[in-house]
Amino acid sequence: MCGIFAYLNYHVPRTRREILEVLIKGLHRLEYRGYDSAGVGIDGGNSKEWETNSKSIQLIKQTGKVKALDEEIHRQQDVDLDVEFDVHLGIAHTRWATHGAPSPVNSHPQRSDKNNEFIVIHNGIITNYKDLKKFLESKGYEFESETDTETIAKLAKYMYDNRESDDITFTTLVEQVTQQLEGAFVLVFKSLHYPGEAVGSRRGGPLLIGVRSDHKLSTDHIPILYRSCDGKNVVMHTTGKDKKSCNTLPRMDEDTCLFPVDQKAVEYYFASDASAVIEHTNRVIFLEDDDIAAVRDGCLSIHRIKRTAGDHPARAIQTLQMELQQIMKGNFSSFMQKEIFEQPESVVNTMRGRVNFENNTVILGGLKDHIKEIQRCRRLILIACGTSYHAGVATRQVLEELTELPVMVELASDFLDRNTPVFRDDVCFFISQSGETADSLLALRYCKERGALTVGITNTVGSSISRETDCGVHINAGPEIGVASTKAYTSQFVALIMFALLMCDDRISVQPRRREIIQGLKVLPDLIKEVLSLDEEIQKLAAELYQQKSVLIMGRGYHYATCLEGALKIKEITYMHSEGILAGELKHGPLALVDKLMPVIMIITRDHTYTKCQNALQQVVARQGRPIVICDKEDNETINNSSRTIKVPHCVDCLQGILSVIPLQLLSFHLAVLRGFDVSLLHARFHHFLTSLMCILYL
Ligand code: UD1
Ligand code: BG6
Repeated sequence: MCGIFAYLNYHVPRTRREILEVLIKGLHRLEYRGYDSAGVGIDGGNSKEWETNSKSIQLIKQTGKVKALDEEIHRQQDVDLDVEFDVHLGIAHTRWATHGAPSPVNSHPQRSDKNNEFIVIHNGIITNYKDLKKFLESKGYEFESETDTETIAKLAKYMYDNRESDDITFTTLVEQVTQQLEGAFVLVFKSLHYPGEAVGSRRGGPLLIGVRSDHKLSTDHIPILYRSCDGKNVVMHTTGKDKKSCNTLPRMDEDTCLFPVDQKAVEYYFASDASAVIEHTNRVIFLEDDDIAAVRDGCLSIHRIKRTAGDHPARAIQTLQMELQQIMKGNFSSFMQKEIFEQPESVVNTMRGRVNFENNTVILGGLKDHIKEIQRCRRLILIACGTSYHAGVATRQVLEELTELPVMVELASDFLDRNTPVFRDDVCFFISQSGETADSLLALRYCKERGALTVGITNTVGSSISRETDCGVHINAGPEIGVASTKAYTSQFVALIMFALLMCDDRISVQPRRREIIQGLKVLPDLIKEVLSLDEEIQKLAAELYQQKSVLIMGRGYHYATCLEGALKIKEITYMHSEGILAGELKHGPLALVDKLMPVIMIITRDHTYTKCQNALQQVVARQGRPIVICDKEDNETINNSSRTIKVPHCVDCLQGILSVIPLQLLSFHLAVLRGFDVSLLHARFHHFLTSLMCILYL
């Protein structure tokens, strides 16, 4: 996703070239998170111009890789790289397009006006940006980008232009701005009016500040400054008691901010990710939601508007000891594990701004102009490979139910091999995490040639499938680095469910069902968290299974896809044989494989297939099988009749597949680890990533 990096040098003379090198390097470190454009904001002109008050801020932004931005910087005729700055703030950003396609004008920093009075870099999404934009437009502000972020920069200027007092601080201004923002954000501001000052804030995303100085620092705990009743700052002492009066504390008081003693040289690094900071310093401060951090005259202070119970009174300087690669993976041993655990968050990102849980509506901006045409089509064909194909299998039933259309789900390679007939009144979906899978792309071109409407369900903005389809939905799950697809599957699942809901939003008879599903989507992130809490139990199960040769996974109805997907995960990363079996087919052959030694996992949940699944369970038990059953945690009948169960929470039937697949994702991960495979080194995608990383490190 997006990445934030800012560098402030205070009494550490640096040429513009050096500053830009630090910024570009910071962006390189954030590259692994995925992005499609990048930009920097630095002081323009030379130091003489600054002294004579003809200050300027220069923005350089470019679509594509950080390398392309670096080349763009070196192409600039009017950037004198040798100018030296004793004090300077540079801000930099990698953007993963959300509001508006990747382009220089949509990249960050976003600006308040043509003079760049306020510029800002932003991670996250401002959900009320349309209202803010309308308000600012009514005040005469003209917008140039399609981003939500531009409203933040313009709001800062609006607040500044309408300030009550001339000595308003940058911190107060940013406080006023953030109070108007709804949604999630990590921000760093730079302004012509506050040279050499940086202000950052976060809500719902990470922001940390690295500190580097050869001199002793005033404190290792920065106390929080709270805005008092009369708008001034009060400090809350580490004893936890407020000062009684609403007095303003001296700025350079060692009680209130961090600085090198004797106000000596210091450098600060703001970043959304420790990987961008670690090579400069291992002394960092992690901000918390609604903290506002400000550097002024080389001093770092931390502010909060309100004090709430349980607030920690200070932010400690922590020492990072982790290796770079470890930081990027967080506390997880591999990207696959990290991505499995990201699912409560990634499904929210898929739904963000699209599902309104209050009035039970769904909006898919990417389909709104085509939905009438889709509703008139003769059939839906879902085409994909691997895990993405399973997302189609998983949602087929609810698509049939809610669209009342015939739905075909096709493996792209087979679809092409068959020269499948496709007509102008067909709508063909291409589901792909990467948006680049060759067979899916070929099938897309094949369907286009035959005049069908093509729809993409992709995770990668700007990918071939995203570009070549007539319309589509970006699943916004964030970059998936582990090749074994996990969070993209659950987000594709959610995106297809949202599409099904959209297709029937004007059919009165299905409204109770729609509401039931939308309310199911609302609780989904919490239920996913509950399933993830089974990790330890599943690890123990893996310890019992890892020496086996084969695992069979059985289920039917909504869970057939889970069986296929679980088996694919196991094959793909553990090199064990595994097969997903439709429980309805059990008696037509596969039952012969079952005996007391064959590991069997069954999925049974309380939906319309429940009785049939119980029959399948009996058949397996009758052949001395001892299945491990993934079941509803309140299903006492199954729990009592099975020797071993993995109990998952109950959810609306068509979403239950999201909850039942997660234990299998975890199981495959633990099996791979126990079988001695380094999950992080298993796959080409990771190798490729690692190679690029090593190149960066050695540059
Ligand atoms: C867009 C923004 C989203 C923002 C929302 C706010 C982009 C990429 N997305 O999302 O971040 O929250 O506006 O209004 O700027 N498309 C295809 N094929 C695909 C996927 C998408 O053609 O496989 C097209 C869509 O039809 C659409 C565009 O790409 O024209 C963006 O799609 P999507 O991101 O899903 O649209 P929104 O949800 O409106
Ligand atoms: C395979 C991956 O190479 O491609 C699978 O190993 C993935 O995990 C499949 O599901 C399809 O990829 P995509 O990007 O089209 O979803």
